Amino acid sequence: DHDESYQKDITLAIVKPDAFLAAHVDDIRQEILHAGLQIKAEGEFVLDKASAELFYREHKNRNFFPHLVSFMSSGPVYVMLLSGRDAIKKWRLMIGPTDPEKARKDSPLSIRARFGTDNTRNAVHGSDSHESVLREMGFFFGNYTEESRTPADACQPV
Ligand code: TYD
Ligand code: MG
Repeated sequence: DHDESYQKDITLAIVKPDAFLAAHVDDIRQEILHAGLQIKAEGEFVLDKASAELFYREHKNRNFFPHLVSFMSSGPVYVMLLSGRDAIKKWRLMIGPTDPEKARKDSPLSIRARFGTDNTRNAVHGSDSHESVLREMGFFFGNYTEESRTPADACQPV
């Protein structure tokens, strides 16, 4: 309808190295499209350690940070820029809680419930706000904000 463009937002989805290695990219892609979201840009990337650190820098003081960074840089990821009504909220609902164990209890059909292993190896990423989307997009699809002066060159498209 006429309001649709106004309601539309964008979000960033990442199929993390565990789900990529387990060949879930196509399934997840289909689920996104079936949910009525559009994929505006996509590609396979490898994050080096510095890029993974920068991507997750809000967590740099957490005890799990080194483990998270080594996991995220352990292999290829598949990144998709999604668009659609309430895309941020919709994709977060589809992926489920951070911890796959909790997801299997509370949201058994979610992607993390089905494809995740533990708190770190949880299959997918979803941006949590408009600000995060703008910052995170810069890593993979060009620099969109002042803040996102990220080593885009270090995120090698495969
Ligand atoms: P967080 O932003 O809390 O979760 P989400 O991905 O649902 O937004 O954490 C970011 C990532 O950090 C999370 O997807 C996996 C990793 N992580 C761990 O490795 N261990 C943990 O205990 C937590 C909370 C997160
Ligand atoms: Mg988060």
